[in-house]
Amino acid sequence: MFKRMQSMQMQAVHCFRTVSPNQREYRAIIALHNTHLGPALGGCRCRHYQHEQLAFDDAMRLAQGMSYKAALANVEQGGGKAVILLPSNADVSGAEREFLFTWFGQCVESLAGQYITAMDVGTQVTDMDVVARETHHVASASNIGDPAESTALGVMEGIRAALDFNSVINNYSVNVTSTGISGKTFAVQGLGHVGWRVAEQLLQQGGKVIAADPDEGKCKHAQDLGIEIVDINNILAQECDVLVPCALGGIINDDNVIDLNCKILAGSANNQLTHDGIAEKLKANNILYAPDFIINAGGLIFAAMQYANALDKAMLETTIKQKIEGIYDTLIEIFKHAQSQNKNINEVAIALAISRLEEKHDINRPNKGAVYDAA
Ligand code: NAI
Repeated sequence: MFKRMQSMQMQAVHCFRTVSPNQREYRAIIALHNTHLGPALGGCRCRHYQHEQLAFDDAMRLAQGMSYKAALANVEQGGGKAVILLPSNADVSGAEREFLFTWFGQCVESLAGQYITAMDVGTQVTDMDVVARETHHVASASNIGDPAESTALGVMEGIRAALDFNSVINNYSVNVTSTGISGKTFAVQGLGHVGWRVAEQLLQQGGKVIAADPDEGKCKHAQDLGIEIVDINNILAQECDVLVPCALGGIINDDNVIDLNCKILAGSANNQLTHDGIAEKLKANNILYAPDFIINAGGLIFAAMQYANALDKAMLETTIKQKIEGIYDTLIEIFKHAQSQNKNINEVAIALAISRLEEKHDINRPNKGAVYDAA
């Protein structure tokens, strides 16, 4: 375990366990990757894992991604993530669910502000409302609002940046200026909270949108708006200007990377590439990749600013908007850097994130998060 922590530069991994009045055992992991920029902020994932080690890996990998995301979004927050390990086929609802999230709130509280939790896969806003009764270190609750709106705005900024940059390198124009969505084709995987909003905006701005989602109701509604629906197994290979993954992680692998028929890969899904080497293959195939941990930072920006609660409503909205618009400039900077150094974009983005984290690291002051629990 310590070897894995070392290879991922993790600061701390906290483990928790409880037994409910119904004699069900629950376990949770809170992984803190880096708190040099501020307390670690990241969602709580609640699901069944085949093996315990997969849960540790998930928590650590996601926490690391949150550190990079915050560093590149200029948000003074560290990277952390929580995972609740559910027993297989467990229906956790009603009083049992309330017990689970009351307990999880107490776990978060025990870290005294080093970790701030939020929603993620398998958790709902009502769960966070229960957590909020036990701790104020929670950045999503029903009175705060859905971060997906901000995430979608960030994805739109990222798509614009990638289209603009591509138009320059292909000599369509001499400067990086707005190219526009109109007339371009977009393939959106997943019409959920983020994907739906992105698809709608692309459509409104004159784009042609192709989409896929296993939910028939969403597909029908999308068709009514003028979106072309394809089978979920065919969406990745659609011929398009921009492939926009807004569903699952780990979707681009060594086998399907050669089937991609897009010029740009830019969507909200976390950890889209199964491994970093895929970024090299995208580069070889002339596909411009907008790293997920940059383009999907809108939700983090929203959550961090809401949690800080330091601004009045109007100022808060303006600051969130400005930071989300910054995603455009960050991506252009990274695209240019990667091109001039002939490196893949992921590598350049990670190096920039690490350099920002190191800049803030005062080696003479032990970090508050540097607690190493046995796991
Ligand atoms: P969601 O759960 O609301 O939507 C996911 C959608 O994908 C659902 O409509 C689902 O039916 C669909 N889907 C599932 N399997 C599919 C498949 N094989 N092909 C096509 N569609 C499929 O999730 P949400 O909130 O929209 O997030 C989407 C992605 O963006 C996730 O990977 C999430 O981790 C990431 N993300 C979301 C943020 C947010 O603010 N909601 C922030 C940062 C990242």
